[in-house]
Amino acid sequence: MPRRRSPPRHGRRSDTRPAAARPAARPAADRRAADRRAAETVPVELAVAPGLVDLALHELRELARRSRRPIPTTRVGDDAISLAWPGAHAELHDLRTVQFVSRVWAFTVPRPKALLGDEALRTLQGGLRQLAAAAPFTGLRLSAAGRDSTVMRRLAAALAEPIGLEPRDDGDLLVRVRRAEAGGWEVLARTTPRPLSVRVWRVCDRPGGLDAALAAALLRWVGVRARDRVCNPMLGGGTMLIERALAGPAACLDGFDLDAEALACAERNAAAAGVAERLRLWQADATSAPAGARSERYDLQLADPPWGDAVGDHADNAALYTGLLAAAAARAAPEGRLLLVTHEVRLAERVLAGHPSWHVVAERRVWQGGHRPACLWLARRP
Ligand SMILES: C[S@@+](CC[C@H](N)C(=O)[O-])C[C@H]1O[C@@H](n2cnc3c(N)ncnc32)[C@H](O)[C@@H]1O
Repeated sequence: MPRRRSPPRHGRRSDTRPAAARPAARPAADRRAADRRAAETVPVELAVAPGLVDLALHELRELARRSRRPIPTTRVGDDAISLAWPGAHAELHDLRTVQFVSRVWAFTVPRPKALLGDEALRTLQGGLRQLAAAAPFTGLRLSAAGRDSTVMRRLAAALAEPIGLEPRDDGDLLVRVRRAEAGGWEVLARTTPRPLSVRVWRVCDRPGGLDAALAAALLRWVGVRARDRVCNPMLGGGTMLIERALAGPAACLDGFDLDAEALACAERNAAAAGVAERLRLWQADATSAPAGARSERYDLQLADPPWGDAVGDHADNAALYTGLLAAAAARAAPEGRLLLVTHEVRLAERVLAGHPSWHVVAERRVWQGGHRPACLWLARRP
């Protein structure tokens, strides 16, 4: 007698696909672990200077490996990386190439007014309370299209009041409201009072100081090698050399500047960064070779010469850049690298065209405070 097929169980459609085409059933323990992980992840966005996103992604993956977290899936834009971080968002504050970290809340609401509804407001107030408990914010700054509208003013007040802050234009708890790409609205809150790129070590500022996150990213780009003898002519406040010291060991870390005040400033910053004892700093002209009393040959030189706006003069820069490249070549080890960051893009191109000592290995344009400098990775010709 032919066996009767048992009827499908109530409420379930039978899967008529061949076994090979059916998704493998996940053991319950796996499913529970995946659910737990999803519940523990924190949606965040990393703000990154345009032109550096690939380097920030690389650092993010390194951080995940180091902290034994699964490599997060990311959505990458020109100036931001979105991800669900499987841990506390504060772990991301170790990223040196990132401008700042924001906590993200997404709402499937048609317009911002709905963010004043009970549920959305409770979520946001709870989230901001957690951020405020971890860092000393002094005021809340709302950034949104229509920031001065009644709805946005009410929202700013409703978010600030429960955490004892005032809505203020110079507030350091930066809350952004924007339309979400996939529909609905998003609220983002910066997790630290100051951007991460404003380093704690910067106790002394110099005109034309380089953004530290940019410096950190470019150093990763040209390579951080423990055997490198590193030199930073035109040191200024010391951004590049200090970030290089913080990035890892080096055979030596030398820096010099023509200006005694710049040197004093770099010394103070290096002390605040806890790297002063690893640096050798002195006063010298970067266009004369070799550098001061040192006769070292360098594997890596780092230079952001004057751009002719905040520091220096366009008229003098042609001679300065020519002199810098010639002297840097004399200081370079065979196959030595030179990282040159400049907004004098045409001048750099002109001076480097057919240069007898340096050739361009790679170039990238980045954004820094309204400028779009060229970052040139040069290598010493044999
Ligand atoms: C744009 S700043 C460097 C900024 C630095 N990276 C920082 O973040 O603070 C340029 C520096 O080059 C120095 N400089 C200009 N001409 C020089 C020369 N011929 N030799 C050495 N240093 C020079 C200036 O004194 C200034 O400190």
